[in-house]
Amino acid sequence: MSSKKIAIIPGDGIGPEVTAAAREILTLAARKAGLDLEYATCLAGGAAIDATGVPLPDDTLAAAKTADAVLLGAVGGPKWDTVAPDIRPEKAILGLRKALGLYANLRPVKVSAALAAYSPLKPEIVTGTDILIVRELTGGIYFGPKCESETADGVERAWDTEIYSVPEVARIVRMACKAAKGRRGRVTSVDKANVLASSRLWRRVASAIAQEEGTELSHMYVDNCAMQLVLGPKTFDVIVTGNLFGDILSDEAAVVAGSIGLLPSASIGDGPGLYEPIHGSAPDIAGQGIANPVGTILSAAMLLRHSLRAEAPAAAVEQAVDAVLAEGYRTADLYRPGLTKVSTEEMGKLIIKQL
Ligand code: NAD
Ligand code: IPM
Ligand code: MN
Repeated sequence: MSSKKIAIIPGDGIGPEVTAAAREILTLAARKAGLDLEYATCLAGGAAIDATGVPLPDDTLAAAKTADAVLLGAVGGPKWDTVAPDIRPEKAILGLRKALGLYANLRPVKVSAALAAYSPLKPEIVTGTDILIVRELTGGIYFGPKCESETADGVERAWDTEIYSVPEVARIVRMACKAAKGRRGRVTSVDKANVLASSRLWRRVASAIAQEEGTELSHMYVDNCAMQLVLGPKTFDVIVTGNLFGDILSDEAAVVAGSIGLLPSASIGDGPGLYEPIHGSAPDIAGQGIANPVGTILSAAMLLRHSLRAEAPAAAVEQAVDAVLAEGYRTADLYRPGLTKVSTEEMGKLIIKQL
């Protein structure tokens, strides 16, 4: 059996609950493929602030850098909302993404037949939705120059800056075009080119790269995209967009699927891949054992596929999740009378049994 190193970062709130469920499934699926996983459990976010004073301790970063992949739950919560901005829990995630060079965030949104009835949207609108959001992850307004507070003419202000360079846009659009080749072949590039200079550069570069790649590309303004996502999610194949727009649109797309607890993500680029659900630490339900672990479990499947090159076990995990949902087992976020309500842990066990 060959061995792979996984850095696991439970984080805060529901993070430890959902990563515990996902870890068991990841271990089992990998073992079936002849891979033995060696875990390093690391602190990040609020838990790290409490233990060490900083959100991303050096030994966590070192463990992530030397791992084959990183699995993360979520960070943040009201307890740390008043800490200094440069040590906020969220800085851990931003720091990991930047330090590992993870410029591409893949957020697939699929609506299986079993779940179509659970979206707040009509089943005929959502059934068959299969979107891949490719979000730029290490640039844009998240990482531009910023100022927390300055006073000019007696008025306090704060600012952030959106910057995109040609190489940054080119590499993410190229990745989206390549991803589209294994799918329905269509890329929608989402921007705000009618207002923002950075979006005008984005649009120009996206067109040039799509032409080089021979990919069918259309452009859409982000405000229209927000509307089209709920009007006709099935019309999208691959969406490529900047850091902030991708963050917002992916939470919106989660509603198409029925719950934010379902959606996984893979952050890839230069260093080891980072895998995390798209949701946060959900302080409102933390500690109750009711969080949906599926987003984290499907993130573990993406880890198997992208970082461990283990396609068969990745697909097996995805099929096991589908089967358990099709049998009517639901965590509280997706529960309706007539179905079987299960806890986070029970959902994990059911998926293991299915595997
Ligand atoms: P959130 O995603 O944590 O929660 C939004 C809503 O979705 C809540 O009602 C929550 O209960 C629900 N929800 C989220 N995940 C769920 C799951 N797995 N199962 C069932 N319900 C779920 O977003 P928020 O409330 O805006 O943020 C809370 C904290 O999380 C903040 O500190 C924020 O910065 C942080 N955050 C972290 C990440 C991350 O670690 N990747 C992502 C987003 C937000
Ligand atoms: C996400 C989160 C993060 C982001 C935060 C916690 C930094 O919302 O992964 O979607 O904005 O990227
Ligand atoms: Mn987000």
